Amino acid sequence: PDHPVITIDGPAASGKSSVARLVARQRGAIYVNTGNMYRAMTWAVLDAGIDPADADAVRAAAATLQIQSPVVEGQTQVQVNGRTLTDADLNSDPVNRAVSHVARVPEVRDLLVAAQRALAAIGPLVMEGRDIGSVVFPDSPLKFYIDASEEVRAARRSAQGHTDQVAERDRLDSTRKTSPLVVPQGAIVIDNSHLTLEQAVQQVLSKLPN
Ligand code: C5P
Repeated sequence: PDHPVITIDGPAASGKSSVARLVARQRGAIYVNTGNMYRAMTWAVLDAGIDPADADAVRAAAATLQIQSPVVEGQTQVQVNGRTLTDADLNSDPVNRAVSHVARVPEVRDLLVAAQRALAAIGPLVMEGRDIGSVVFPDSPLKFYIDASEEVRAARRSAQGHTDQVAERDRLDSTRKTSPLVVPQGAIVIDNSHLTLEQAVQQVLSKLPN
């Protein structure tokens, strides 16, 4: 019933989004950026004037929000209560600062993980995030973990014009109780510090069955 899912996890700014998008295109799969789902939840929390560090308030707000992920041109968009969020909404500095706080609330994760699993009924997926191979689709035989050195990741982030503290976000994501960032069991690890995008995509594609 469910379609195959290629999982790609890794820290912030490791280059996994670019790799995942191109692998999805090559394989004719739907590209799912789960970070954008956590970012959408965070955008809505901030829009409601809620303190992202107040876990009880975040939990209560999350239960009232409708996060939807329609597939448009081969990738999922994110909508909050019917409103489509733009890249600027999702990648703002306030969202960058708050997202790891919102993402550590277990009820937020439960809601979004259920939505992520449901997408596998639509078609084959390439899904990237922090817990895709470990928690969302632990039985997938097609798991990757894309890493890069802290220096390279910080440089990529500032080249994109972001001033957020990548290291602090990774610290929060790696140390949280629920679904921390880990190398999933069975994942192939790719160090993307000194690869071009094409080389990293090739490495992933070369490991996939035809
Ligand atoms: O991938 P991206 O850097 O856009 O993710 C933003 C944040 O969303 C991460 O720093 C993390 O806190 C959260 N996240 C998560 N689990 C995922 C994807 C993202 O907790 N599967």
